[in-house]
Amino acid sequence: MIVFAVVSTKGGAGKTTLTANLGALLADLGLRVLLIDADVQPSLSKFYPLKHRAPRGLTHIITSGMITADAISVVDLSVNGVLDIVVSDTPEGQIQTWLMNQTFRETRLYGPLHSAELKDQYDVVLIDTQGAVGPLQDAAALAADILISPIVPEMLSAREFLSGTMDMLNRLSYRGAPMPHMPTLGPVKALIYRQTRTADATSIAQQIKREGHIPMAGRVAVLDTVVPSTVAYTRASREQLPVHWHDRVTTGATPCAYEIMHKLVWELMPNLEGIEAGNIGEEA
Ligand SMILES: Nc1ncnc2c1ncn2[C@@H]1O[C@H](COP(=O)(O)OP(=O)(O)OP(=O)(O)O)[C@@H](O)[C@H]1O
Ligand SMILES: [Mg+2]
Repeated sequence: MIVFAVVSTKGGAGKTTLTANLGALLADLGLRVLLIDADVQPSLSKFYPLKHRAPRGLTHIITSGMITADAISVVDLSVNGVLDIVVSDTPEGQIQTWLMNQTFRETRLYGPLHSAELKDQYDVVLIDTQGAVGPLQDAAALAADILISPIVPEMLSAREFLSGTMDMLNRLSYRGAPMPHMPTLGPVKALIYRQTRTADATSIAQQIKREGHIPMAGRVAVLDTVVPSTVAYTRASREQLPVHWHDRVTTGATPCAYEIMHKLVWELMPNLEGIEAGNIGEEA
């Protein structure tokens, strides 16, 4: 089982859209996928319709330190594998305050997500995080084996990645070091995300590819896959569908989402390379 967290200290970068679409594609490839909505604003929880809504969610996992069946909801999409979700159920953000007062707050998601039972049950766990610094974001980042950080190639976003996101990651990487029982921060895959076809965006994207690996002494790698900005991502989310179902054929200069999302999945998980969703759900 592998745990990914999608992180960025900049709001609106595309974390939730990316988490939802990655999760659905991985599940469509036949994998058993668990999504975790670790944002106090429950956007991921509402991204897809639910077939079954569990009575519990994120709060129970964090406060009890365990994942039990009554905290796992089921997504209503006809994927080939499994697509479950732990919904965010802390609209007032109480979990942040609760976490703030815990001594081992960093391990509050790591523990339950690395339990033996969960490892038998799922192949991939994908955590959506909130775009604001806080103990919930820290706990989510430290729970992951690999962090994926979308960067929109605009001046402000690129700067935010280098300052805000890097500050957070640096801070957490030091946390892990001195105490052996603490999880250590995983490698970071920066993803150029929502790139428009303007000269500015192209040049900033090139700069990120050239220099993005420099911070944190090799801990960051910039992915080759670039996710373009197209209306398909917004339309698919409005229709509560995975974007690889919604945008399946490349017509113009921009590759379709089916192609891009497969490329991304294969880059993140090379053992899946060449495997395609193929049989697209009936909703498509
Ligand atoms: N590839 C894309 N192309 C164009 N628009 C996109 C793309 N991906 C996401 N969007 C749009 O960008 C907006 C922000 O996306 P999203 O909510 O996923 O960001 P976020 O990082 O989760 O935000 P927050 O920090 O508030 O949680 C949404 O309107 C979404 O539909
Ligand atoms: Mg979000």
